[in-house]
Amino acid sequence: MRSLLLPLFALTAAAVEQASNTYDYIVVGSGPGGGPLACNLARAGYSTLLIEAGKDDGDNPEVADLANFNAAANDPNMRWDFFVKHSEDPARELKFQHMVWRKRDGTFYVGLDPPAGATQLGIWYPRTGTLGGCAMHNGGVCALPADSDWNIVVNKTGDTSWEASKMRKYLIKLEKNTDAPAGSDHGVSGWVEISQSYGAVPAQGSDGWNIDTQLAIATGQNASNLASLVRRDILAGGPDKDQQTGFFAMSGHVDKTGKRTGPRWYIRSTLNDPAKYPLTLSLNTFVTRVLFSNDTANPAAIGVEYMQGANLYSASPRYKNGTKGNLTQVFARKEVIVSGGAFNSPQLLKLSGIGPKAELAKFDIPLVKDLPGVGENMADNYEAGILTLANRDLGDTGGYVVIMLNTSKTTHDRNIYAFCGSFSFEGFWPGYPTDYGPSQYECALVHMGPRSQAGYVRLRSADPQDVPDINFRFFESNGDEDLTEILDAVKTIRKGIRAVTGDVAPFDEQHPCAGTGAECTDEAQKDFIKTQAYSHHPTSSCAIGADSDPMAVLDSKFRVRGVRNLRVVDASAFPVVPGAFPVLPTMMLSEKASEDILADAKASS
Ligand SMILES: Cc1cc2nc3c(=O)[nH]c(=O)nc-3n(C[C@H](O)[C@H](O)[C@H](O)COP(=O)(O)OP(=O)(O)OC[C@H]3O[C@@H](n4cnc5c(N)ncnc54)[C@H](O)[C@@H]3O)c2cc1C
Ligand SMILES: *[C@@H]1O[C@H](CO)[C@@H](O)[C@H](O)[C@H]1NC(C)=O
Ligand SMILES: *[C@@H]1O[C@H](CO)[C@@H](O)[C@H](O)[C@H]1NC(C)=O
Ligand SMILES: *[C@@H]1O[C@H](CO)[C@@H](O)[C@H](O)[C@H]1NC(C)=O
Ligand SMILES: *[C@@H]1O[C@H](CO)[C@@H](O)[C@H](O)[C@H]1NC(C)=O
Ligand SMILES: *[C@@H]1O[C@H](CO)[C@@H](O)[C@H](O)[C@H]1NC(C)=O
Ligand SMILES: *[C@@H]1O[C@H](CO)[C@@H](O)[C@H](O)[C@H]1NC(C)=O
Repeated sequence: MRSLLLPLFALTAAAVEQASNTYDYIVVGSGPGGGPLACNLARAGYSTLLIEAGKDDGDNPEVADLANFNAAANDPNMRWDFFVKHSEDPARELKFQHMVWRKRDGTFYVGLDPPAGATQLGIWYPRTGTLGGCAMHNGGVCALPADSDWNIVVNKTGDTSWEASKMRKYLIKLEKNTDAPAGSDHGVSGWVEISQSYGAVPAQGSDGWNIDTQLAIATGQNASNLASLVRRDILAGGPDKDQQTGFFAMSGHVDKTGKRTGPRWYIRSTLNDPAKYPLTLSLNTFVTRVLFSNDTANPAAIGVEYMQGANLYSASPRYKNGTKGNLTQVFARKEVIVSGGAFNSPQLLKLSGIGPKAELAKFDIPLVKDLPGVGENMADNYEAGILTLANRDLGDTGGYVVIMLNTSKTTHDRNIYAFCGSFSFEGFWPGYPTDYGPSQYECALVHMGPRSQAGYVRLRSADPQDVPDINFRFFESNGDEDLTEILDAVKTIRKGIRAVTGDVAPFDEQHPCAGTGAECTDEAQKDFIKTQAYSHHPTSSCAIGADSDPMAVLDSKFRVRGVRNLRVVDASAFPVVPGAFPVLPTMMLSEKASEDILADAKASS
């Protein structure tokens, strides 16, 4: 018999009101979804408990200096290791060049030729359990979704508050944009500083300048205007923003001195504010399930159960098998909001009895609500790159430029976000990335609008400390169209790189078409991209959907369907992948959820 039975609470509403361990709201997870929401609820005067599994790593220089983000994602003191699959085909999985294995001595082997006795773990997918969530180890890159990514919620649910024209106000509310062109449609006094202080504009005549000139020509731009093209604002509004292609400056959640900004700092400033907002932060606290009233016909979330202690989730490399914390319960007068991220929110819902009936039955988890969409419908941006080595060391950073491309034959909007410079980025594995030295030059590609959303997060056991079974099932449907779009972007960029002259050329391409000036078939290149694609932006595993859609997990107000007083507010709520980079859209979604939840609170008081 499982020890974690559905609680038969004899608590009446009045008893809950009086308990000292009771708050108006409980928010689980302090990332870009949950962090700003908890702050906003507390700032509106509601007592709010923000629970975070990790500690506060804000002063760690790997975190604080955005340029160190690769070190932050590798840091065993804060990372959560997930090992995922990209397909159901074991042979295809084995072609992934950075497959991770556990050697007999307990250390990792990464590659195609594991030593005898090694156990295959899967494709490493870093996340982090820390105050501020993955905004503490991410690349900090900020971009907006296409208007259609918001409007699709209107289409699905009829809720016109999601119209793209109404979403920009959340960007304006949250951002303190320190590079906004004067008079532009930006926020300058919000809680998160956003700047373009990512990589300098290359000096005229430098290697970066010369490469960018050829990339500009290859992408149909007027290279005479390079200096202004590389400064264009990627976060600008306007009716044709999603159709604009060409160069842009990279924007990030980073200040002018290169220090990371994000939800963690909003949480700290809310806690430290002299106004003494009723926000309580509980770090090193791992939530094991949501508690429900015993009103089985119409269950309401009434609180959560947690274990206190560091590294209690087995995704942490510091986790020690067998460590248990005491289970403690805490209650919410109004609502529980789950913001554990695209892997943990569906896992937590399932552990709490909300999910596909058969899956829960398999693990003897008492059913609260049969919701077959929990943990399904997951998607991610496909990522690839064209990695080269220049003929000599690059004399500067090679510049750092964003190129938006349209390689889609079916959609009207631009579909590729590329970023180019002297770096190498070939996906994720413990110890990533490979340093090819000062001649390395890459254009990394983020594909938008994947046609397949077949990924899943499913339980492996009813043990909350266990990690779930995660499979992205990349390219499952209409995969060839997406692969062609990525390949066409590679070809365009390759044309620019091959046109560079001088002693810095030729560039020796490492992949997807190895060699200097080599010819490769489309099939060979697509096969490389298909087997080596990577990703780090999971969304849509607890998606908002229509009343009539049995796979919908949330309604348009983030409410979990079929139960009361429970919402999910994080990247799992998006019905489709929001553009090329989800962190800014998730912060906007958190602002919208704050408004929706506060409106409900006002209506019920
Ligand atoms: C290496 C890497 C680089 C990235 N780079 C970029 C980038 O440059 N630009 C971009 O837009 N996006 C990037 N992303 C993605 C982006 O950071 C995420 O989309 C975003 O952080 C999602 O926010 P979230 O609130 O949904 O979840 P998360 O950020 O994952 O936050 C969830 C929080 O919940 C906590 N939690 C989970 N379960 C529990 C539990 N049971 N009890 C208590 N607490 C719990 C976690 O500890 C975590 O703090 C990157 C991601 C990674 C991994
Ligand atoms: C829980 O169940 C008991 C017994 O069935 C009932 O008396 C009580 O009112 C219920 N409590 C709540 C909070 O629904
Ligand atoms: C919404 O529906 C309308 C009418 O069917 C359609 O023209 C439009 O493309 C849809 N928009 C999105 C974002 O799905
Ligand atoms: C390119 O830009 C320059 C400088 O703005 C301008 O003089 C020139 O006419 C442009 N060329 C084309 C083909 O548009
Ligand atoms: C992208 O290309 C397609 C096909 O050539 C075209 O129909 C579409 O309008 C283009 N979109 C943009 C933004 O240029
Ligand atoms: C759990 O609770 C027991 C009894 O209150 C206490 O003795 C023990 O130290 C607690 N363990 C932890 C890990 O907090
Ligand atoms: C802990 O160890 C046991 C026994 O080896 C194993 O069955 C279980 O899966 C482990 N749990 C976790 C969360 O790693």
